[in-house]
Amino acid sequence: HATSEHPTDWSALVRTEPHPSPASDEKRTQALRAPAFGTCFTDHMVLVDWTRDAGWTDPRLVPLGPLPLHPAAAVLHYGQEVFEGLKVYRHPDGRLVAFRPDRNAVRLRRSARRLALPEVPEGLFHAAVDALVAADHAWVPSGPGDSLYLRPFVVASEAFLGVRAADAALFGVIASPAGAYFHAGVDGISLWLSTTYSRAGRGGTGAAKCGGNYAASLVAQQEAAEHGCAQVLFTDAETGRWVEEAGSMNLFAVLADGTLVTPPTTGTILEGVTRDSVLRLAADLGYATQERPFGVDEWTRLAASGELTEVFATGTAAVITPVVRLVSADAVVETPTVGFGPVARRLHAELTGMQFGTVPDRFGWLR
Ligand code: COI
Repeated sequence: HATSEHPTDWSALVRTEPHPSPASDEKRTQALRAPAFGTCFTDHMVLVDWTRDAGWTDPRLVPLGPLPLHPAAAVLHYGQEVFEGLKVYRHPDGRLVAFRPDRNAVRLRRSARRLALPEVPEGLFHAAVDALVAADHAWVPSGPGDSLYLRPFVVASEAFLGVRAADAALFGVIASPAGAYFHAGVDGISLWLSTTYSRAGRGGTGAAKCGGNYAASLVAQQEAAEHGCAQVLFTDAETGRWVEEAGSMNLFAVLADGTLVTPPTTGTILEGVTRDSVLRLAADLGYATQERPFGVDEWTRLAASGELTEVFATGTAAVITPVVRLVSADAVVETPTVGFGPVARRLHAELTGMQFGTVPDRFGWLR
């Protein structure tokens, strides 16, 4: 047990079982031409078993395929599951580079703790990512804005219908070539202010990246679509007054003096890697940043007075996406800037420049 939790080098332990018939060059090239988010997958996946008795065992790179899950597996009934999202970029010099994967490794551990799942050791997380990228390197796209999206996950695999933390789990990593998350990405998206549904409450799972949070957002997402909006703006469950997040993205407002405002991560909001990167990048570029409660009424008031100039959302999948309006049952608040405003554009250029290797990595964010 101790040795499987703390081996000196996980990467040396990953067993490799190459795909007997990987996608042809032609099929792969076709798939990489204009990859729609989350629709196409590479040839391999990494799987690692866990049991309470034996710890993490048998890390393996195998052909992508269905998982052998018992129909009583706890994940299928009680949603005991956590996941991550990170991207790998093809640099001009040919290197393949992951953006801040250490943050994802740490957050996966934190999410796992909240869902009473086993924590994946950082060394195992990185070994899994490295093994998959090495095997499927040809799947990293080279088109502008394109990347390979990695999806690590931990699911409770024990076949048991009692409600308690499972004694068996599976850690997996799959990969999917990814282009823009939103078709309207450059022009910006509209957000629907949901007053019917909440995403997270005090003491809940809002800060964990678990499937249940996303499942609970879908009906609100449908409501948003009925009102012509691409995403929901969730507010706090208690008062409905405070901006929280957009379900799959964190939110930023830019004030006329260039100050960036984003809600604080006090337990109900996902601690986004892009959110953190934007805060650090903005501070480095000389913008003032404020992590503080931001009210819907303040948003409305500042937009009307011209003191709010830009709104944008951040996420690994969505990168930086302008928010052009906030729609609610009784009002539409237009963002003065349509599409990328100067602050969002500058941050986007710096962030993606670093990710794609055209701007020096001055924070040591690339692996
Ligand atoms: C991400 O940005 O990586 C996300 O997890 C958002 C969504 C695709 C689930």
